Amino acid sequence: MRHPATHIAPPAGRLGVLLVGLGAVSTTFIAGVHAVRRGLAKPIGSLTQMGTIRLGRRTERRAPAIAEFVPLQPLDGLVFGAWDCYPDDAYEAARKAGVLEPALLDALRPDLQKVRPWPAVFDSNCVRRLDGTHVKHGTSKRDLAEQVRADIRRFMHQHALDRAVMIWCGSTETYADTTDAHLTPQAFERALDSSDRAIPPSMIYAYTAISEGIPFANAAPNLCVDVPALLSLASEHHVPVAGKDLKTGQTLLKTIIAPGLKARLLGVNGWYSTNILGNRDGAVLDDPGSFRTKECSKKGVLDGILQPELYPDLYGNVTHLISINYYPPRGDNKEGWDNIDLFGWLNYPMQLKINFLCRDSILAAPLVLDLALFLDLAQRAGRSGIQEWLSFYFKSPMHAEGLYPEHDLSIQLKKLKNTLRYLRGEELVTHLGIEYYE
Ligand SMILES: NC(=O)c1ccc[n+]([C@@H]2O[C@H](COP(=O)([O-])OP(=O)(O)OC[C@H]3O[C@@H](n4cnc5c(N)ncnc54)[C@H](O)[C@@H]3O)[C@@H](O)[C@H]2O)c1
Repeated sequence: MRHPATHIAPPAGRLGVLLVGLGAVSTTFIAGVHAVRRGLAKPIGSLTQMGTIRLGRRTERRAPAIAEFVPLQPLDGLVFGAWDCYPDDAYEAARKAGVLEPALLDALRPDLQKVRPWPAVFDSNCVRRLDGTHVKHGTSKRDLAEQVRADIRRFMHQHALDRAVMIWCGSTETYADTTDAHLTPQAFERALDSSDRAIPPSMIYAYTAISEGIPFANAAPNLCVDVPALLSLASEHHVPVAGKDLKTGQTLLKTIIAPGLKARLLGVNGWYSTNILGNRDGAVLDDPGSFRTKECSKKGVLDGILQPELYPDLYGNVTHLISINYYPPRGDNKEGWDNIDLFGWLNYPMQLKINFLCRDSILAAPLVLDLALFLDLAQRAGRSGIQEWLSFYFKSPMHAEGLYPEHDLSIQLKKLKNTLRYLRGEELVTHLGIEYYE
């Protein structure tokens, strides 16, 4: 199947990367980009920097680098801006996050110190374990949105930028459902004017980005941009959006292993997942409201993959438990344990144990980079609204109404690569393979 290539505007000039939250993930991302630029490290884990894409038939042996196949913004042209409810610059914040070695941070110090966060739109009712001091004050939520807009415009002007993307890398906000205020742009704007409690800070940033024509991604599980009002606004302003909740440690493995068990029609009756985590994210998630948001995001994955409605004998009765325990000694070095109770032929039981000693922000940083570059590409290619092809990066991929999200990592990767082929007018790869035998 071939389509005409899409016109993609070239990535002229530099690209602003606006990060909401200058914590462990954001600083590991910024420091990593600087380290790569200086030739101190390789961008491991980043599809845009290290991935290749097969084109045409297998016999053609064409597999260019993704960065050569589609016109992505080069790393040299990224400029960072951020907001945080604490005033530490990116160097101080990275030191406190404790993810990267002090020697590396010292080598990057001048670059990192340039990123000094603007005061945040912050509400301690939404992130109960933090007590932000570096915050904006305003007469209404509309006023706060206008202050964010002023930050963006000043930043774009200072650095002579035409393009930017914004990524919510802030703390996970407490659980909230969609309300009337989230249904239409008009209702949302009325809620901004009346400072409705239904509008958390993350939505104020998303609203401002979209209304400025800036693509937006949500790295956390809170609703943020995933409400009808902001999706309508994104279509209106021709802005691509993506979310929610980066798929990094335990859930990444879940979406690799569960499809394999299902492919072999092995039954599952229990999946017990527990984690210890000691960074600021762990402290925030120790609050039941924020944990509930995270839990909902993590839980949907297994049902989505196993499809108990289609396979009641295999997956109709799965006990799926998840816990995250805040355990300061481990810092960012999360440890996750999974116990999977499965069964095979004639119901004979088996067990699978996984112990993943991972590093949260080391896994997350390359995803932030890819999202920034792919969202910018999407905008230059004229795409807007939900970018489902970026599901690859998320635990709770955003999707059109009436669809179920695709969680299987290998399907997500095929979807992403086929989208790139589609944009370039290359044949989609279906893996049919019959053509080699006819
Ligand atoms: N690291 C991962 O693997 C991973 C995976 C999935 C999702 N996430 C999510 O990404 C987010 C960032 O993770 P992290 O480890 O960097 O956490 P972190 O606590 O180190 O950083 C979050 C930062 O956001 C700031 N913040 C909170 N509310 C804000 C607001 N309203 N405006 C501006 N700044 C605000 C906090 O002060 C903090 O510095 C979290 O929501 C986390 O759940 C992380």
